[in-house]
Amino acid sequence: MTRHFLSLLDLTGEEIQALVARAGQLKEMQRRGQRHEPLRGRVLGMIFEKSSTRTRVAFETAMAQFGGSAIFLSARDTQLGRGEPIEDTARVLSRMVDAVMIRTYEHQKLETFARHSRVPVINALTDREHPCQLLADLQTYQEHRGEIRGRKVAWLGDGNNMCHSYIHAAVRLGFQLYIACPEGYDPLPEMLQAAGDHVTLTRDPFEAARDADLVVTDVWASMGQEEEMERRRRAFAPYQVNNTLMRVAKPEALFMHCLPAHRGEEVTPAVLEGPQSVVWDEAENRLHSQKALLEFLLLGPQSWAGPRPP
Ligand code: CP
Ligand code: NVA
Repeated sequence: MTRHFLSLLDLTGEEIQALVARAGQLKEMQRRGQRHEPLRGRVLGMIFEKSSTRTRVAFETAMAQFGGSAIFLSARDTQLGRGEPIEDTARVLSRMVDAVMIRTYEHQKLETFARHSRVPVINALTDREHPCQLLADLQTYQEHRGEIRGRKVAWLGDGNNMCHSYIHAAVRLGFQLYIACPEGYDPLPEMLQAAGDHVTLTRDPFEAARDADLVVTDVWASMGQEEEMERRRRAFAPYQVNNTLMRVAKPEALFMHCLPAHRGEEVTPAVLEGPQSVVWDEAENRLHSQKALLEFLLLGPQSWAGPRPP
């Protein structure tokens, strides 16, 4: 059966852990210049209906380093942008390429594509979820601090796609997620409910950050919400991640942001560039974790027993 990655919930906790461990091995292999081309001759289709720097470059580089290739498909240049149904696009593309990655607005569109695809489909961000970023965040935490299970993670700001994927990570990996967001910007209630006592919602940013092991934020207006920016700026101002907030977290707490960041809005330059920030490792790990995901979806879990660093 074709496995898709539409949500972090499509993987079990064990699979996520194995994938993160594999991403670490692939990173080390790349660092040593060890060639590993398990996807020779394979092609990844990449549909982008929104902008991207990290995701596009990570997937394209991953396929190149793996001996395969990737095709960038923007909605503007394909028939998708001229109204060809998503179902038809899925059937056609999946008869040609070996996997498809999609960044779009409605999560439902991604699900419709997957239902009509013969090959694995990857969520490269929808308005609802951004699971690929979580693989990189989990790898980064593991690298710097070890196991995330049982830790306290603080999410500050919007109850958006990233926040939803953090909720899923808390459920799958067993950490405590404290979400501090202003009224009117909560994550989806059904996600909160399904997460049970893994997740606590508060209006108080200091309650969320107090004794946290990891502090995470994201932009206040996501792609597609640009015209709400003024209203959002006012609502989110008390949720800025700055040194005052970081001081209530554990001294060894890390700071993460999926990027792009808006300095002076959701995070101050001092925190983003400060000693607790691991955002550049986090961005780099998009490459290694996407490689681990591609191996898993295209070659199966046996890929975890494949070549490793000497
Ligand atoms: N974090 C992330 O997904 O970045 P891009 O929008 O640049 O792909
Ligand atoms: N929440 C942001 C994440 C960007 C990677 C957005 O959807 O624009």
